[in-house]
Amino acid sequence: MKLLTLDKVDFTGKKVFLRVDYNVVDNGEVIDEFRVRSSLPTIEYLLEHDCSIILASHNGRPDGKIVEPMSLRPVAKLLPKLLNRDVIFVDNCIGNEVDSEASYLRTGDVMLLENLRFHKGEESNNKKFAESLADLAECYVDDAFAAVHRAHASIVGVPKLLPHAAGLLLEREYNTISELMKTPAKPYTAIIGGAKISDKIEVLHELLKHVNALLIGGAMANNFLTALGNNMQSSLIEKKSLADAKKILSSAKRHNVRLLLPSDVIVAKDIEGKRGLRTTKVSELKPGEIALDLGPETMDHFNEVVAKSKTVFWNGTLGRAEVPAFAKASESLAHAMISSDAKTIVGGGDTAAYVDKANLHSHFSFVSTGGGASLELLAGKKLPGIEILMQK
Ligand code: ADP
Ligand code: 3PG
Ligand code: MG
Repeated sequence: MKLLTLDKVDFTGKKVFLRVDYNVVDNGEVIDEFRVRSSLPTIEYLLEHDCSIILASHNGRPDGKIVEPMSLRPVAKLLPKLLNRDVIFVDNCIGNEVDSEASYLRTGDVMLLENLRFHKGEESNNKKFAESLADLAECYVDDAFAAVHRAHASIVGVPKLLPHAAGLLLEREYNTISELMKTPAKPYTAIIGGAKISDKIEVLHELLKHVNALLIGGAMANNFLTALGNNMQSSLIEKKSLADAKKILSSAKRHNVRLLLPSDVIVAKDIEGKRGLRTTKVSELKPGEIALDLGPETMDHFNEVVAKSKTVFWNGTLGRAEVPAFAKASESLAHAMISSDAKTIVGGGDTAAYVDKANLHSHFSFVSTGGGASLELLAGKKLPGIEILMQK
C-alpha cells in the first residue's frame, strides 16, 4: 500500500484544511521552531498551486478546555516572519466567526485556527466536530507526522469527509522511518528518554522485537529504577507504568536484548536546579531529591554501546534538557551518536528541538519531528493517521 501524496490530487485553486503539528508552545512561547519550519514546504507547495490554506493543530493537553497559555497565537506571530506574508488568526477552530472568516479566504490567504484540543471533540473523534472542521474547506492535507499515532478528529475524522493527501513532511518522515524499519543494520540500539512514560512504555514491548540494545534515560528511567527497588524520592514517576517496566525488564532477557539503565544521576531539590545540585548513585537519593539528568558513569556505559552500533534511534531527552545544567547527558549522547559510524535517527518534538538548538541537526542521518509517532512506526505498529492516507 502506498501513501496518497500531494501530486496525486489536483489542489489547484482549492481551499485546503492543512493539519500540521504546532505542538510547540509552552507557557505562551514557541519553544520549538523546527516543527514550524518543517511545515513550510507543504504550505509553499499549496500556495504555488493558488490555494488558500486553513492551518490547524493541537498544542499541549488542555483536555477539552480553553487554557490560555496553550493558545496557538504565538505561532500566528511567528509564521508571517517565516512565510513572508500575513497570517490570519482566529481564536476558535469551529463556530460562526470561524465559518465566516474561512468563507472570505482567497488565493494566497493563510489562516491559523486556535488549538483543536480546546474542544473535547478533537480527542474523542466526535463526528459533528469533524464535520464542522471539514465544512471550512474543500480538501484536506495531513502534514502532522508527529500526531499520526492519534486517532483524533482532525487526523482521521476530517479526511473521511474530504478529498485528501499526505503533505511533503509526512511523506518524507513516513518513507524514511519505514525504510529504516525494514532493514536496520545491526547492532541496532534504541535510546528512550523523555517524560511521556505511560504513553511510550507500551511501545517498548514491541520495540524489543527489533533492537539489540535498549538504553533507558530521562524520566522514563525512574520507573524502571523504582521497579527494581530504588527509591527515586521526588523524581517524576507514573505509578501505573511500574508493572509494565517489570514486564519489559523480563521480556528484554527473553529477547536477548541488552537493556541498560542509569547507575548514577544528577539530582536537585527543584526542577530548575537552583538548590541541592549533585551527582549520586541511583540507590542513594535523599528525601526531596529529583533525578533530572543522567550521571557521567551512566553516559560512559551508554556511549560505549552507541560507539559499537550500526543503527541508533534516539527519542526523549535524557534529562530536563531545557535547563542547561540538565542537558549534559543529552549533549554527551548526541556527540557519541555523531562520532559513531552508525546511521543515526533522532525523533521527538523536544528531542529534535534540543538537537536543533544545539546546532547539531545536520550531523544526524535523519531528524524526525515525531516522538511517539516515530517510536510506534519503528516498533511496527499501524498508525491511524497513516492508514487513512493510504491509496485504496
Ligand atoms: P519528545 O518530545 O522528544 O518525544 P517527551 O515529550 O517524551 O520527548 O519528553 C521530553 C521531555 O522530557 C522534556 O520536556 C524534558 O524536560 C523531560 N524530561 C526528561 N528527563 C526528565 C527527568 N528526569 N525529569 C523530568 N522531566 C524530564
Ligand atoms: C508530540 O509532541 O509528540 C505530538 O504533538 C503528540 O502530542 P500528544 O502526545 O499530546 O498527543
Ligand atoms: Mg514532547
